[in-house]
Amino acid sequence: MNKRIEAALNDQVQKESSSSQFYLAMASWAENNGLNGTAKFMYQHSDEERFHMLKLIKFINERGGVATVPAVEQPPKTFDSLERVFELLLEHEIMVTSSINDVVDVCLQEKDYSTHNFMQWYVSEQLEEEALARGILDKLRLIGGDKGGLYLFDRDLENQAAKATAPGANA
Ligand code: FEO
Repeated sequence: MNKRIEAALNDQVQKESSSSQFYLAMASWAENNGLNGTAKFMYQHSDEERFHMLKLIKFINERGGVATVPAVEQPPKTFDSLERVFELLLEHEIMVTSSINDVVDVCLQEKDYSTHNFMQWYVSEQLEEEALARGILDKLRLIGGDKGGLYLFDRDLENQAAKATAPGANA
């Protein structure tokens, strides 16, 4: 495997791993603050990021490169508010999108069209994740400090997480 491509992919492995840790910290914080629906949603999101990391590791190794398993990062222990959690999630996803775009750019520079093709899955995934985070943040801003609204918001996220894990949901 081309060394520049290998380095760019390994850098992305690190980003997906740190996303998984970050969302795990959010899940744990939500669970400790009575937001069980949000916790479920974030635990699931953390698992998805781990899957993104694994998919990259396998791709690197299958193509004759060497994947680097990154060190585990310590994410924050606490967050200021639920709104802040989703602001951070959106900021993080925007950073990941830009990093995916960098990998795609290296693929084009190196004329590696099969890795470019592989990366298109991540490009679409980022579009979905950013749209989801923006939608959730809009809802939260609409609710403001309304406790009843927050209760319903948390229940909605729980339903969303349950739907995503239903058999055949991602088919
Ligand atoms: Fe795998 Fe949400 O970036």
